[in-house]
Amino acid sequence: MQQLWSDIDAYIESTLIPEDPILIQTLKNTEDKGFPDHLAVAANQGMLLQMLIQMNQCKRVLELGTFAAYSTMWLARALPEDGYILTIEGRDTHAALGQENIDRAGLPQHIELQVGRAADILKALPTDVEPFDFIFIDADKQNYPEYLELCLKYARSGTIIFLDNVIRAGDIINPENVKPSIEGIREMYRLMQNHPRLLSSTALQTVGSKGHDGFAMAIVK
Ligand SMILES: C[S@@+](CC[C@H](N)C(=O)[O-])C[C@H]1O[C@@H](n2cnc3c(N)ncnc32)[C@H](O)[C@@H]1O
Repeated sequence: MQQLWSDIDAYIESTLIPEDPILIQTLKNTEDKGFPDHLAVAANQGMLLQMLIQMNQCKRVLELGTFAAYSTMWLARALPEDGYILTIEGRDTHAALGQENIDRAGLPQHIELQVGRAADILKALPTDVEPFDFIFIDADKQNYPEYLELCLKYARSGTIIFLDNVIRAGDIINPENVKPSIEGIREMYRLMQNHPRLLSSTALQTVGSKGHDGFAMAIVK
């Protein structure tokens, strides 16, 4: 099935996703430097992020898990020129690559990459920081519950929180899989259920070039 899912993603990409030299350059530089490209969102997923930002006229975006800044480029592309992204990356080699790709892109939006453990950086943000309109959580899965709670401190009513990789080919419902990453995702679902600060939440499973996975999404009350 994987080949079929990848072929369909390629079809969607060739029909609906306009070619963007900056996004192509980001992926090429990532590959040229020997980094795996499977960590990045697929182009049709990037477009979904972009459309959510456009629908909600977001200006301030928070991203946890930069990697090569491919998703960051999708997020930035949807913002007005005075838009702002804070993107956080924990691994030095990924942060260096991400920063290089951000610099090469030369986009007008202000993209700030901070290097360090996402939870530490979030805890160190000033409490009066202007709230983010859109939050993309795509770092280590075992810390998703903590990220959700921390991100809520920097959200406003109407902020959209989007969490990637929350299906893991069905591992989330396999009781034999008790890896910290899977337990972290399960705890995230428990937390989202009836969370007093969330208006509504859902998750969708997806298949495509990145396999069988999916995303969760919530709107802040
Ligand atoms: C799936 S990749 C992000 C992909 C990127 N969002 C994209 O779609 O192009 C996850 C990234 O989170 C980073 N990461 C893992 N644990 C982290 C932590 N505790 N704090 C910050 N970043 C972390 C990893 O080094 C990796 O680069």
